[in-house]
Amino acid sequence: MATTPLVIAVDGPAASGKGTVARGLAQHYGLPHLDTGKLYRAVALSLLRWGGDPESEFAALRACEDISSLMDDPELKSEMVGGIASRVSAYPAVRAALLERQREFAGSPAGAVLDGRDIGTVIAPDATAKLFVTAGIEERARRRHAELTGAGLPVHLEDILIDLRARDERDSHRSAAPLEMAADALLLDTSSMSADEALSEAIRLVEGRRRP
Ligand code: DC
Repeated sequence: MATTPLVIAVDGPAASGKGTVARGLAQHYGLPHLDTGKLYRAVALSLLRWGGDPESEFAALRACEDISSLMDDPELKSEMVGGIASRVSAYPAVRAALLERQREFAGSPAGAVLDGRDIGTVIAPDATAKLFVTAGIEERARRRHAELTGAGLPVHLEDILIDLRARDERDSHRSAAPLEMAADALLLDTSSMSADEALSEAIRLVEGRRRP
């Protein structure tokens, strides 16, 4: 008898812990994982490298053509690339260009874990389990600050807070596939949780959906 593949959608705002939760779930269940934010970051980096204008939807669409070679570039992690990714991800043409490869990944017979902003709403609306991972903005800023200073980058907490507010605003209020919690998603607030606690809770929530 064929079994339905386990597909887990993890959405949430920047620095909420969704990436850590998604990676942990993928490892726990032995599933392939796609960090979809990396696709948008790669478009932003491609645009930056050839000097394309982020204000131009057409330029951003062109930048989608050659992102494969950038998927492991260390610069993808930078705050500047994240900010441009948030801007180019608002263009419907860019979202459409990246849709198919995400749907294909989500449709893998082996199952999958995907994390992003619109996984439960657009990419994998039939996912087995949908988690919406969030945390208070101050806590998210503190985590991002620790991550960046830990990597040797001199950043100020206040600047990160301003940047996160702007990203939240853009990601949540764009008209194309905005960040929003799917009606059937389960909320996971990681504000006062360690990474291990967040993963245990995520597994508990997924198990609830697998065996209702
Ligand atoms: O998760 P992240 O910070 O790496 O994502 C970078 C930007 O990409 C984010 O600000 C919005 C966009 N994004 C998106 O619009 N849809 C997704 N599924 C993932 C990311």
